[in-house]
Amino acid sequence: MSSSDKSSLLFSPLKIRGITLRNRICVAPMAQCSAVDGVPNDWHLVHYGSFAKGGAGLVMVEATIVEARGRVSRGCTGLWDDHQIEPWRRITTFLRAQGSVPGIQLAHGGRKASGQPFWVGHGSVADEDGGWPTIGASAVPFGGAVWKVPKEATIDDIDELEEAFVSGAKRAVEAGFEVLELHFAHGWLVSSFLSPLTNHRTDKYGGCLENRMRFGLEIAAKVRNSIPEDIVIGVRISVTDYADNGWDIKQSIDFAKKLKTIGMDFIDCSSGGVVSYIDYNGLNANGVQLKAAQSIQKEVGIATAAVGKIVDPHEAEAILRGNGATLIFIGRAFLNNPHWPYMAADVLANKMSFKYPDQYDWCIGWRGFDKWRRDVLKDENNNLF
Ligand SMILES: Cc1cc2nc3c(=O)[nH]c(=O)nc-3n(C[C@H](O)[C@H](O)[C@H](O)COP(=O)(O)O)c2cc1C
Repeated sequence: MSSSDKSSLLFSPLKIRGITLRNRICVAPMAQCSAVDGVPNDWHLVHYGSFAKGGAGLVMVEATIVEARGRVSRGCTGLWDDHQIEPWRRITTFLRAQGSVPGIQLAHGGRKASGQPFWVGHGSVADEDGGWPTIGASAVPFGGAVWKVPKEATIDDIDELEEAFVSGAKRAVEAGFEVLELHFAHGWLVSSFLSPLTNHRTDKYGGCLENRMRFGLEIAAKVRNSIPEDIVIGVRISVTDYADNGWDIKQSIDFAKKLKTIGMDFIDCSSGGVVSYIDYNGLNANGVQLKAAQSIQKEVGIATAAVGKIVDPHEAEAILRGNGATLIFIGRAFLNNPHWPYMAADVLANKMSFKYPDQYDWCIGWRGFDKWRRDVLKDENNNLF
């Protein structure tokens, strides 16, 4: 078997700052809407734990909210208060014990906050029904079912929101996370400052691109300067709004250049979610995202994460080999199969270098299986039975 065990980039370790990922397979952040008071529970332990025992290099925990007002639903996980740190530590300890690096997305829902859990719907919840007032760059609602009109953030609000990201980041590090991802995408708080469609401000945080980027850059710089050097920080952006006069790939490249200079380590290339009138059918959003990941990585010289309907290990491998990205983020395919890396190791003939958990390796890992067959079954053939 060793002769057919090809080296694959997907399964190559990757060192960034102080951390080493065992492979490039990363779980994309996926909100579970299952926390109470922002505190993760057994669902989160088992959910994230299954990806870690499934072999992911990086398990990126869902959008975790840095200020209670920024919860997209009541079930959002949080790091706005110290009491949320310890329950996260239980999870990061388990992830690390399985060989995964624990990462977390830090977020603020902005004008998309105060909504229903995703499986109920995507609409705003009125204050009288248990919702709460929201905040954004300007008093511009997302639209459609997300009708809530956010308060336009004052300069004092902006200072407080930046500090909320810093406090959230510090708590994340205390909880044991080694990779932080700042959620600047999907029309959430920071995204609402970036896009000219949602930012109508006339002060230094609105208008020209430099002003619209200011809030995000200030958050990124403050977070970078408040946590240890060896912690990796990435930023998720929507690379385009898919709308006339909106945010686009060119602005994303300019933003990525600035983020790189202030010490961000990777750009996770998502898209859309900024205005409600886009028809995503036929847009090939995953194709747009993958192309943007390649452009940003090549033009800016910063690592990118490719995301969007990546289900085939050969496709993941080809993206890495084509210098299309440095990290492969996988969402729904991981929900479908938390052991996706086991399948990918089979497909990419990487059994010899792939390490299963000890509990499984002796019987399904190649070395374990091979040894078992030779020692116990006295079978030198490679036939499965
Ligand atoms: C259940 C679910 C929850 C999600 N929650 C988040 C989130 O918390 N933060 C975020 O940036 N994206 C979120 N996403 C988007 C994913 O991170 C990912 O970008 C998207 O699912 C595309 O990748 P995929 O085709 O591999 O699923 C979510 C997606 C799903 C399916």
